[in-house]
Amino acid sequence: MKQALLLFAALTGLAGFSVAARAAEPAPAVTAAPAVAGPIPVARLVAEKCAGCHSTDGNSPTPNVPRLAGQHADYLYKQLRNFKAADGEPPGPKNPMYPTPSDLVYVAAPEGKLPERKNPLWFLAMNGMVHGLSDADMKNLAIFFSEQTLVPAKSALGPDKLEPARLLFVAGDPARRLPACGSCHGPTGAGLPAQVPRLAGQSAAYTEAQLRNFRSGDRTNDPNMMMRDATNRLTDEEMHLLADYIAGLR
Ligand code: HEC
Ligand code: HEC
Repeated sequence: MKQALLLFAALTGLAGFSVAARAAEPAPAVTAAPAVAGPIPVARLVAEKCAGCHSTDGNSPTPNVPRLAGQHADYLYKQLRNFKAADGEPPGPKNPMYPTPSDLVYVAAPEGKLPERKNPLWFLAMNGMVHGLSDADMKNLAIFFSEQTLVPAKSALGPDKLEPARLLFVAGDPARRLPACGSCHGPTGAGLPAQVPRLAGQSAAYTEAQLRNFRSGDRTNDPNMMMRDATNRLTDEEMHLLADYIAGLR
């Protein structure tokens, strides 16, 4: 019953939103090119939409909120697109809504498309956040945060765990066909633009959550299932170990 009510609320919300989106569409230009409003200045976007969680310089103090500072711009841009229901599309018939914040319920667009990247945390904060962002806004935000200086997280790894963690990261475990994280992300976790993100200095809680999301299939935006393959044989303990190790990488 609760589910049904939620679904009903979501669907009525959807109908309302689609109408509003359609009504807001400008009439087609018949003469000269219409004046196009430029992208919203990035500093204003950051202050009004992002800083509350990620901080103005992209060094979030909250463990579950990732540090964006110094991350590769292409990767950040891709993530912002992937949080949208129909990859990167502006609000409109193909991307009419984002998942309902009323509960952890994802509601598919009419074509049945769910965002490739969903974040169950904080009522799907990021899926909602990207909703009104244009392509230019997403690019500008990605560049802005990539240009900030990373304040790296601290590692809570005990000295006795350092070597096993390092081995797992740089060598994997061939006996279990576990690929080395470092073979893609680099031995120091610096990543490889444009596809492979930097990991070094990221908050451990966030990294661990992403490893779990890839393993469970909640996050499906990794090209060629690279991360789903890399995580599907990892134990909870190994994920915890790797996340702590990564936080301490520089
Ligand atoms: C209400 C809090 C909140 C706000 C506001 C917010 N974010 Fe986020 N953001 C998060 C959380 C939480 C995550 C982690 C999501 C997950 O666990 O998958 C995240 C993840 C991200 C990621 C993915 C990073 C990675 O390493 O993959 C990007 C990029 C991002 N946010 C950009 C932004 C931008 C740009 C804005 C402003 C337009 C913004 N966020 C506003 C909470 C927020
Ligand atoms: C075959 C290459 C490959 C291997 C091996 C690999 N990764 Fe990845 N990883 C990627 C790519 C590509 C992405 C970006 C996915 C996307 O576009 O969202 C990624 C994303 C991630 C993320 C998400 C970062 C963020 O900011 O949200 C984490 C965490 C991560 N990898 C950790 C690891 C760990 C730990 C290992 C080893 C167990 C590993 N990866 C092995 C290619 C790889």
